[in-house]
Amino acid sequence: MSTEKRASFGGKLSAILVAAGSAIGLGSIWRFPYLAGENGGAAFLLVYLLCVLIIAIPVMLCEFAIGRKTHKNAVGGFRELSKPWQILGFNGILCALFISGYYYVIAGWSLDYLVNSINGSLYNSGIPFAEQYATFQASYWPIVYTIAFILLTHFIIARGVEKGIEKASNIMMPILFIILIFMAIRVAFMPGAAEGYRFFLTPDFKEAFSSDTLFQAAGQAFFSLSVGMGCMITYASYFNEKTNLIGTSLSVSLLTLFVATLAGLVIFPAVFSAGLQPTEGPSLIFITLPEIFKGMPLAPVWSAIFFILIALAALTSTISFHEVLTAYLSEEHKISRKVATYITTGITIVLSLVTLLVGFNIEIFGRTFTSTFDIYDFGSANILLPLGGFFTCIFVGWFMKPDFFKNEINNYGKLPVKILPILFILVRYVAPVIILYIFVKGLGII
Ligand code: PFF
Repeated sequence: MSTEKRASFGGKLSAILVAAGSAIGLGSIWRFPYLAGENGGAAFLLVYLLCVLIIAIPVMLCEFAIGRKTHKNAVGGFRELSKPWQILGFNGILCALFISGYYYVIAGWSLDYLVNSINGSLYNSGIPFAEQYATFQASYWPIVYTIAFILLTHFIIARGVEKGIEKASNIMMPILFIILIFMAIRVAFMPGAAEGYRFFLTPDFKEAFSSDTLFQAAGQAFFSLSVGMGCMITYASYFNEKTNLIGTSLSVSLLTLFVATLAGLVIFPAVFSAGLQPTEGPSLIFITLPEIFKGMPLAPVWSAIFFILIALAALTSTISFHEVLTAYLSEEHKISRKVATYITTGITIVLSLVTLLVGFNIEIFGRTFTSTFDIYDFGSANILLPLGGFFTCIFVGWFMKPDFFKNEINNYGKLPVKILPILFILVRYVAPVIILYIFVKGLGII
């Protein structure tokens, strides 16, 4: 193991902001709106909310307990408690590699849009936004911006846990909240916004509980809260013995739900107001958002602010999975953090280049995949994270003694936690059964 002293986050607020920084990212601002658009809007919001409360929060608590107890990375954390279970840590490492392989690509798009907002070309050319998006995709710029984003992340991770990760999250997260609230207010005054609110806020219950909506919403709950791959184990390994795990997990979840809902309240009114369709898929925000700004005075300025926001949100998340890989490499393979950071960055660049440059057409589970982008997205959110979450609950709920969970959650009796028995039932029975059901149904196994 590396001999460097293990870092820890400053106070209560830092623990929340750093974990919320990991959770809130492209998942809430880019992925959530387009999935909601494709899966019935309000129906999706409703099921997603339920999945966060019933599945994702229990998994997060289990991860917090493992990380804070062992003060180790995802693999080391499980191994310290039980050697065979370290395989779950490796599932997390694989998942971090999957996410690294496509997340930076989208983060790179936001950088490009930021630059083109600042230099004015996005709004001056007069070319429809859908067409600009397609032209950008076909150029070499996505490669340049993806690598730029990876290097930006590398720079923060290289500064270390406290001066890098903690400081960046503490500055960036509050700015993000303020800008989003402002945008939601602005969009409310656009003509035709009401139709967007209706789409996003009136659920169709038949649609809500279809197996595909459930499957996508559960995947999104895992992805958006960064649970199921040991990211929260890694972050909680920097928590101190006073950190309130329930308070932190509730704050992180509520903040994430708040941002995802706000993102929906910005995107859907704008989509309908601009006469577009909400089913645009991954390109949704890159086509509809410029449409909102176009009608505003100082369009390039607002647009630049918004894409800075997306880039910042992405950055506080990219540092978290970069950290999962870096902490694993440095602690498990006895190398310095610095070397581990370089190795992670190198692997990430290679994975992203494959995503950007290689295309194919294959069908798995009745779905068509045309690049590693689709495979990584589906494979992480819909397979590896739920799998990791399911077994994490089994591990903490059934394999470990009940005292393990209870002691970590109530800080060895120092915090009065009345809902402990309920939480334990969620971890032991409710979350695993529901995850299993949604997973097996969603993949068409039953
Ligand atoms: N939660 C992040 C987002 O919603 O953008 C993505 C993510 C980060 C997933 C870290 C998993 C992870 F470990």
